[in-house]
Amino acid sequence: MHNAYPRVTDFTKARKRMVEEQILMRGVKNQRVLGAMMKVERHLFVSEGLRHQAYDDYPLPVGSGQTISQPYMVAAMTEALRVEPEHRVLEIGTGSGYQAAVLAELANTVYTVEFIAELSLGARRVMQRLGYRNVRFRIGDGHEGWPEFVPYDRIMVTAGAETMPFGLVDQLADRGRIVVPIGRGSQMLTLGVKHGKRLVQRSLMGCVFVPFVRGERNGRP
Ligand SMILES: C[S@@+](CC[C@H](N)C(=O)[O-])C[C@H]1O[C@@H](n2cnc3c(N)ncnc32)[C@H](O)[C@@H]1O
Repeated sequence: MHNAYPRVTDFTKARKRMVEEQILMRGVKNQRVLGAMMKVERHLFVSEGLRHQAYDDYPLPVGSGQTISQPYMVAAMTEALRVEPEHRVLEIGTGSGYQAAVLAELANTVYTVEFIAELSLGARRVMQRLGYRNVRFRIGDGHEGWPEFVPYDRIMVTAGAETMPFGLVDQLADRGRIVVPIGRGSQMLTLGVKHGKRLVQRSLMGCVFVPFVRGERNGRP
């Protein structure tokens, strides 16, 4: 019988090649991050028709006009955060749930916020099926973070903000780290490290993310 999609072993091979050729060779060295990228089955976070492209070197559509980020970008952002098991991690922009799964391989607790309900519910379904018990989902405006569980040791924003979202920085623990793409159109991936009331910022690399939507457009992209 003809099968349009590669067998499971082929996905495993494709994932290994993705880690070696797109991620390791571009300089991501953290073994825990590489291990998580090798483990999480990215093809299960995209629609069936896109599975054969799941390990390719670019973002893919996930519905509602949103995207799952390029694998290298997921790895680089995750490495920049320096996530440890004891960390409480907040992700803004659940999308497909893939980045949350990678974070959930590294930290005991991940909180993820998404304002498009279908995406949040879809991600929740996939992750329940995969057995992730350490991820909590919220449907709402990411600019508000998730006040109930502050402070977070690490915050990752996976949508492009026009400026540093200081409302989220307020939810970051002292010595905590935040990564966020900043700019209009194309953005600069920016790392912030909190020292008391100060946030020391560093530019990491250029990137292009869908916008971190503000104001009355929220919920209706
Ligand atoms: C590049 S996608 C995220 C990819 C996702 N992390 C993944 O692994 O599939 C950006 C996501 O941010 C969401 N988003 C944009 N603005 C938001 C806001 N104000 N609050 C919550 N989510 C937002 C979008 O709906 C979209 O799902």
